[in-house]
Amino acid sequence: MIENKVVQTMLNRKSTRKYKEEMPGDEIIETIVSAGQQAPFASQLCSLLLSRKRDENPYKAPLFFILCVDSHKWELIMAKRNWKMVADDLLLMVFGFQDAALMAENMVIAAESFGLGSCFLGGVPFESEKIIEKFHLPPRVFPMVGLAMGYPAENHPPRPRYPMEFVLFEDRYPNFDEDIIEKSMRVMDDGYLEQDYYCRLKAKIPLKDKEETYNYDTYSWTEHISRKWGQNLFPDTLLEQFKRCGFNLCAGQRDKK
Ligand SMILES: Cc1cc2nc3c(=O)[nH]c(=O)nc-3n(C[C@H](O)[C@H](O)[C@H](O)COP(=O)(O)O)c2cc1C
Repeated sequence: MIENKVVQTMLNRKSTRKYKEEMPGDEIIETIVSAGQQAPFASQLCSLLLSRKRDENPYKAPLFFILCVDSHKWELIMAKRNWKMVADDLLLMVFGFQDAALMAENMVIAAESFGLGSCFLGGVPFESEKIIEKFHLPPRVFPMVGLAMGYPAENHPPRPRYPMEFVLFEDRYPNFDEDIIEKSMRVMDDGYLEQDYYCRLKAKIPLKDKEETYNYDTYSWTEHISRKWGQNLFPDTLLEQFKRCGFNLCAGQRDKK
């Protein structure tokens, strides 16, 4: 593999869940945000919230960003040009998610380059009520994902990824044979087990209707993610969360806009 400083930074990145108390300086924060803003965008359909209240932040991180899909700002600009937003909310959400996700990852890599670690928090969309209140969000702003950041107080090797043959398909999507599926599972499971990842985090997802047969010597990534997507663990309120933020993603309802 060819390496340079940027690629090394990307390949060494890992999620950080323990942070030093030290608060990154304003200049560093602004540089990270500028790098985030310079990501490609469809329409800059996003905004960034920041909390420096370490005690309230996930993993007591000195910085906690929330990446939001933001149609509100665009609607203000369009009003100035005598336009009204009529685009479907689902379409706005898809483009907004892409804009916000690209911005977020640019921030992560910029942060890494300054020696800061970070960790995404995927539960944020379910906390819209609290976030609206805390940050005084206007309607048409949806909190998409959280991003904790700060100087790391832990150092792990990077986490494994699927082998490239399970990811990159040139010209034609393959019919997977058993070997490549099993190899991909093994690479991921062995890699997480080597780091005692779930044991350290005490992150075993309980089984709802089955007897537990795994311990932390055997419980790894493919079992964890299977339990996550095989058990309906998330609250069934995502459409309500969008609605609370002023986005209507229900098919028939969108036509009424
Ligand atoms: C959208 C998204 C949501 C995530 N949510 C959480 C979370 O709620 N809590 C957490 O500790 N890590 C979370 N993560 C971090 C992943 O667990 C982590 O990226 C993954 O295990 C790969 O490990 P690595 O980032 O160290 O390479 C999230 C990552 C993404 C991209």
